[in-house]
Amino acid sequence: MSTRPRTPAPSTPAPGKLPLPELVEMKRRGDKITMITAYDAPGALLADEAGIELILVGDSAAMVMLGHESTIPVTVDDMIFLTRSVTRAARRPLVIADMPFGSYEVSDEQAVSNAIRMLKEGGADMVKLEGAGRMVSRVEAIAESNIGVIGHIGLTPQSAIKLGGFRAQGRTAKAALRLLDEALALEAAGASAIVLEAVPAQVATLISEALEIPTIGIGAGAGTDGQVLVWHDLLGLYAGAAPRFVKRYADIAGEIGGALDQYVNDVRTGAFPEEQHTYAIPAEELAELEAGLAERRGR
Ligand code: KIV
Repeated sequence: MSTRPRTPAPSTPAPGKLPLPELVEMKRRGDKITMITAYDAPGALLADEAGIELILVGDSAAMVMLGHESTIPVTVDDMIFLTRSVTRAARRPLVIADMPFGSYEVSDEQAVSNAIRMLKEGGADMVKLEGAGRMVSRVEAIAESNIGVIGHIGLTPQSAIKLGGFRAQGRTAKAALRLLDEALALEAAGASAIVLEAVPAQVATLISEALEIPTIGIGAGAGTDGQVLVWHDLLGLYAGAAPRFVKRYADIAGEIGGALDQYVNDVRTGAFPEEQHTYAIPAEELAELEAGLAERRGR
């Protein structure tokens, strides 16, 4: 019999990885869950070092990384490429790959086969998809395939046009009840958590209290079981205006802009590179080189 360690099955967490059931335990204990988006290895490493529990490779990558106007154009292959670079670096956090628009709407089979690609090719630990209604069946099919899945309701950017733009959801009693029913249906279908985006704080709190699984809020107030922000928004890596719910913890775009201005100026004025940035040739080698060149010129 071979003594080589067996490759863990997809449902077996890698050593040091946060176990998925720990999220429900955190909710029971009242410990807040932290989640952030990341799209590359350096970001994933920093998020891991900061002790963040969940890294979302969001389809927001379409806009903040790939320069699209919306999340619609990003493909499964794009998401796998980005997820792969995150999973190479993240050790403890669970890495969630967002299912992009068009990768799960057609059928349960399509949803499961693309979720499998996210795990096998991207190395993701689990997936997230937007919506309820018919999407509840997609969540159920993925969960029944032993893949962890997170729901996402409220403002769902992939359907922003249908929703009439990027606007808060659940602001009437009827709409709030619909959100609650969606959340309960996703939980019953096997979702491991639900992202609530741009939902009034009171509504998000009521939904969170009604569920056993954790809610992760973005623009949903302080009553959810965890919070998520987009990397570029949190760090100020975006020149444009951020949504109202964003708290900017840094001005990295300003820092980078200042550094680049200084670099351009230093190169143009000759202030860079200095001696300390330069390789030297030993004096005797230089003398020999110069003598050799003089001899060539004399020939
Ligand atoms: O794609 C994304 O970044 C997201 C978050 C806003 C939750 O879905």
